[in-house]
Amino acid sequence: MIDQLPVIAVLGGTGAEGSGLAARWAAAGYRVLVGSRSEERAVDFAAKIGAEGMDNATAATACDIAVLTVPYQAQRTTLTALRETLQGKVLVDVTVPLVPPRVMRVQLPEEGSAAHIAQTVLGEGVRVVSAFQNVSAGHLQDPAHVIECDVLVTGDDPTARSEVVRLAEAAGLNAIEAGPLDNAVAAEALTSLLIWINRKYKSPGAGIRITALPADKS
Ligand SMILES: NC(=O)c1ccc[n+]([C@@H]2O[C@H](COP(=O)([O-])OP(=O)(O)OC[C@H]3O[C@@H](n4cnc5c(N)ncnc54)[C@H](OP(=O)(O)O)[C@@H]3O)[C@@H](O)[C@H]2O)c1
Repeated sequence: MIDQLPVIAVLGGTGAEGSGLAARWAAAGYRVLVGSRSEERAVDFAAKIGAEGMDNATAATACDIAVLTVPYQAQRTTLTALRETLQGKVLVDVTVPLVPPRVMRVQLPEEGSAAHIAQTVLGEGVRVVSAFQNVSAGHLQDPAHVIECDVLVTGDDPTARSEVVRLAEAAGLNAIEAGPLDNAVAAEALTSLLIWINRKYKSPGAGIRITALPADKS
């Protein structure tokens, strides 16, 4: 039933995190649009994974669900430019509000979280869901790697949250709904702890796992 799957745009999909997600969704049979500031860069990468490459605005226009995977410093400007295009859609925000060089310390934005910035910039006409902040890009990029960590999915719209859980599962990840968008701050903050833990224990990509859930949590 490939026809019924949503079309996914990965905005900034040429990068570390977005490329892994895009490749996994393309391999799962989704129509994936890789977005970039450079159409040429997107086309080159997309050809390698069975996706379509284009500029971010074209991808945002043609998709059902957009996934934002650009650095925090580029989040606001990227979303501001796509605000009108994204109205009525689901925007999955993967942004971690890291402030280099102190990325191993939690430094939250004045607005509370990157997810709140996304919702504020886009307005209530876009259903923002926050997810994937705690999944290492290196793990995502290796299609053979079985990713053991959980993905925390937060957002105010229950239908959009469930759709993003399905997307995470299609990418081979275990996803858990974790409440409203206000809760995204916890997942965003955890990433700095994970980066610190990676360095301390020489891990290629530590993750988190929620325990004591029933086997069938649907
Ligand atoms: N890396 C990880 O392990 C990881 C894990 C969890 C969450 N995240 C989050 O995922 C997001 C992406 O991380 P990443 O490591 O994939 O970043 P990245 O590779 O540095 O950048 C991703 C893409 O963003 C685009 N980009 C870069 N600077 C931009 C700018 N000034 N304006 C617009 N677009 C720009 C680039 O695409 P084009 O040049 O093609 O436009 C680039 O390929 C971040 O918010 C990060 O916190 C990352």
